[in-house]
Amino acid sequence: MHYIGLMSGTSTDGVDAVICRILAPNDVQVLAHQAIAMPAALRAEFLALNTAGPNELQRAALAAQELARLYAHSCMQLLAQTGLQPQAIQAIGAHGQTVRHAPELGYSWQLNAPALLAELTGIDVIADFRSRDIAASGQGAPLVPMFHQAVFANTEPRVVLNLGGIANISVLHPHSPPIGFDTGPANALLDEWIFKHQGLRYDDGGQWAASGHIHQGLLSALLSEPWLQLPPPKSTGRDLFNQAWLTPHLARYPALSAVDVQSTLTAFTAHTVCTAIQTYAPNTEEVMVCGGGAYNSHLIDLIQTELKKPVQLSDGFGIGAQEVEAAAFAWLAYAYLHDIKASHPAITGATHSRILGAWYKA
Ligand SMILES: Nc1ncnc2c1ncn2[C@@H]1O[C@H](COP(=O)(O)OP(=O)(O)O)[C@@H](O)[C@H]1O
Ligand SMILES: [Mg+2]
Repeated sequence: MHYIGLMSGTSTDGVDAVICRILAPNDVQVLAHQAIAMPAALRAEFLALNTAGPNELQRAALAAQELARLYAHSCMQLLAQTGLQPQAIQAIGAHGQTVRHAPELGYSWQLNAPALLAELTGIDVIADFRSRDIAASGQGAPLVPMFHQAVFANTEPRVVLNLGGIANISVLHPHSPPIGFDTGPANALLDEWIFKHQGLRYDDGGQWAASGHIHQGLLSALLSEPWLQLPPPKSTGRDLFNQAWLTPHLARYPALSAVDVQSTLTAFTAHTVCTAIQTYAPNTEEVMVCGGGAYNSHLIDLIQTELKKPVQLSDGFGIGAQEVEAAAFAWLAYAYLHDIKASHPAITGATHSRILGAWYKA
């Protein structure tokens, strides 16, 4: 009944790892959480591998092995924290690190080394959660809405807003499958911009953004991105929302200060998230938020102001904001071992729901 979930998301900030006790699909308890920061060199390599470069195959293989060692280290820390032995863990659900997401070309590439992880931990590993859904003509993303539905659905509709590198929402109804899709970038552009100009990994509390001004011309230009107008199912990544995407927009406003760009990018995240919620969950009172962006209080203020309602940290619903994504991968491992179909055509656009993942036995 114990499962480990390992998530390293598009923010490339690190690994979130949890041990969950899962007694039934809707009975999930997080027993322990570990967050390990991504070493700077590995982070730079993952970001570099998002675009074409020399000797990619070898570099990808080596980066995947390094990630597996980081994953194994997270697992050991969780075991030490809980006093559990490896034999007490049914399986690890390991997401891997996305370096390319191109479902329109039939692939989404998560660097991972699940066989090495099984060797290093002595625990069964379930990995490669996206490829089967893509093979069934889906986006392979987002993968979390079925988990959100299982653990957070209530008698009243709810929205779960996940603010990772990319933002996604799940709209939960008590008696129908969830709607879930990516709304655009959450932290990916914010992190890159502050790193470039201040050498910081992220804008703590959104304080830097809050000290600048939103530039309406730039904001409108960013909002004109055609992907944003597409109806769900849809998903995205750094493949689209990256510096190469941003640069031509910024070139039109050469006098704009770096801080005002950060303010405008933060407003861009807030507005795309709010538009998605207002369009696909107009009458939903409860909006719960998870992912690291939940701690960007300036971003949360902008979202609350635009939605005209408070948003609530997922902590109050039983799972910490920084734990939800990792818990989803523990749940996906559970779903695999219990023959539960963890995708849904309404979410990914696939022709059928499928059992997701591949099993590497200890
Ligand atoms: N205190 C904070 N203030 C502002 N942003 C934060 C804070 N803590 C975390 N974040 C943001 O959250 C990101 C990590 O969120 P996470 O949910 O792990 O995303 P992902 O799933 O893409 O890895 C960081 O890169 C940062 O942008
Ligand atoms: Mg992360």
